Amino acid sequence: MTCILQINEKSLSEAKSIISSGGAVAFPTETVYGLGANALDTDAVNKIFEIKGRPNDNPLIVHVHKDFDITELIEEVPDYAKKLADKFLPGPLTMVYKSKGNVSPAVSCGLNTLAIRIPSHEGAQKFLKYVGLPIAAPSANISKHVSPTSAQHVFYDLEGKIEIILDGGECKGGIESTVLDCTGESPVVLRSGLITREMIESEVGVCGEYAYKKGGVARSPGMKYKHYSPKCRTALFEFSNLENAIKLYDSESNCGVVCCFLCDEKTAKSIGKRNFLSLGATPEEMAANLYSKLREGENIAQLLIAIAPEVRGGIMAGVMNRLTKACGNGNES
Ligand code: TXA
Ligand code: MG
Repeated sequence: MTCILQINEKSLSEAKSIISSGGAVAFPTETVYGLGANALDTDAVNKIFEIKGRPNDNPLIVHVHKDFDITELIEEVPDYAKKLADKFLPGPLTMVYKSKGNVSPAVSCGLNTLAIRIPSHEGAQKFLKYVGLPIAAPSANISKHVSPTSAQHVFYDLEGKIEIILDGGECKGGIESTVLDCTGESPVVLRSGLITREMIESEVGVCGEYAYKKGGVARSPGMKYKHYSPKCRTALFEFSNLENAIKLYDSESNCGVVCCFLCDEKTAKSIGKRNFLSLGATPEEMAANLYSKLREGENIAQLLIAIAPEVRGGIMAGVMNRLTKACGNGNES
């Protein structure tokens, strides 16, 4: 049986005993919910891959408490990375370093690097402090499904597969952390998120961005997989192509298909009396609402028609990356 528990002394002690005996616990972060296990225990880490049905070449992020000495796990921290850590951590920024090989090799799927994240969510910090171990954790969804931003989302995907879900309310960030490669002379964004390339650049002068090309070698293996996908049919249109989106909606509706638009507040005003789910008005709102609206959409519609918001730049890079992966077809399955 899977229980959703408020975070307190009793649930934390239960979480600790599950983690120390090699089990997995779902916990909140400021981005999405994670499914955590002891990063030092290979069987426990393998269990995460099994529970999620995750491909075994897609490495995990190690989550640590803010007082944890990360030099136990990784080789040198470049000066630019120290600066970024001072500015943005704890927070939604995952930093990839050369690994010392002190965690289970299953965490990084054989890579010689290690991704480390210090989440800012109070519940995550309490959990990490209480268990006192580095915790390997992917998002707490079934592989390829939409990431969870509430304890109920985790329950929907993982009921019967894990014992407890620590409930820290709805995640305020809404999209996964920025993954930043810190193994080279300057940082490179491997996955965009709430800490944007522009924010990193303004702190340390220069920041690259890695673009995965279909069929190529992925520097961040997660990039090549289909992700974040709702269970219904989907389509994605540019804002400039709104007219064709409406045509698709109307022709499918005429054939009896239940359709729903997924769009920002502004676009919702131009679609007449058709079904829609609004992502909100600002980029922050759109990031925070994206996954819960995708989950809502798959439950009410047979065809979800996303319209890319007109506003771009900043955290919209992360929002568009997730929206394209969820509703477009720009990836391998
Ligand atoms: O916000 C988040 O990052 C959430 C919460 C739970 O912390 N976690 C999360 O984990 O999104 P996951 O497993 O869904 O995504 C981890 C991403 C993948 O794209 C993976 O390929 C990349 O991080 N990654 C992990 N270790 C890496 C490494 N050593 N080198 C390059 N990329 C790595
Ligand atoms: Mg994930």
